[in-house]
Amino acid sequence: MKKTPIIIDCDPGVDDSYAIALANSCEFFDIKAITPVEGNVPAELTRKNALALREMLDIDCRVAFGADKPLVIPYFNKITGTHGEAGVGTVKFPPSKLGPDEKPAWDVIYEEAVKANGELLLFAVGPLTNIAIALRKYPDLPKLLKKFVIMGGGTFGNISSTGETAEFNIWVDPTAAKEVFEKLDVYMVGLNATHAAELKKADFDEMIALCGDNEKAYLLRELSKFSMRNAFERGFDNSVIHDALAIASEINPDVLEYEDYYVFVEDDPQKKNAGQTVIDLERKSGKEPNCHVAMKVNQPLFAQMMKDLCKYYGTK
Ligand code: BDR
Ligand code: CA
Repeated sequence: MKKTPIIIDCDPGVDDSYAIALANSCEFFDIKAITPVEGNVPAELTRKNALALREMLDIDCRVAFGADKPLVIPYFNKITGTHGEAGVGTVKFPPSKLGPDEKPAWDVIYEEAVKANGELLLFAVGPLTNIAIALRKYPDLPKLLKKFVIMGGGTFGNISSTGETAEFNIWVDPTAAKEVFEKLDVYMVGLNATHAAELKKADFDEMIALCGDNEKAYLLRELSKFSMRNAFERGFDNSVIHDALAIASEINPDVLEYEDYYVFVEDDPQKKNAGQTVIDLERKSGKEPNCHVAMKVNQPLFAQMMKDLCKYYGTK
């Protein structure tokens, strides 16, 4: 079977870890590289987690370290608690035996794109710093990619430093996001889509049960218990596994429906809406659409895919 080569640029991250596990469970994907960037937790931890995830999930791929700070603004440098202190909830990784690739993320992304000869599917589910650096260094990268899918942006935000809200991944490095949106054909899986794919407590109960006590399902069992506790103990009746939705939509296109809009990324750190993806939903700007925005979600299908994922590792 001909597999699709993929790269996952990420900041693991609880939902990033689900995303990697999901991609690894897909028989049509060949993971070529995982490229960690600064984000949910500082780069030192996203790097450690990426190395550990590769080993725990037994993925035969490169792990190439990326940026440790955004292009222009300083790294926000606060542990938000959303992903636990080390970035992966309550998961404890054994020390990694294998080290990183000798090349940085941007060189590996380009090298794999060249090798894949137009077939590479690039996911970015963290801040877009690595991708922006790759594009600055390799201006021909866009024409080498088959598709570029991000988790980021959306019609509303989830973090605020100014009184207005923006989506976390874009907010961390808006300069990078702006450059990436200008240079690449972006499929944007934003918060409006990921929140519409929220999972309820009953879904997590089922997922944990499907993991059973299989050692191979340790990661998903622990992530699911953490996600459930983290959200439900704080009074929410759902939890959102953002990054996995971007991957799920490329495994089964029925998960998402995209609509094309003009999207403007506010990258001026002085502006109150810094980091927002301003989407011309009413088509009033007179600008041509420049982005495919995920607008409709098949939540039951996504929930089923997350359960199938737990079953996959629970019966491995
Ligand atoms: C995004 O921000 C991070 O916390 C998650 O990993 C996800 O990529 C959601 O806004
Ligand atoms: Ca992420």
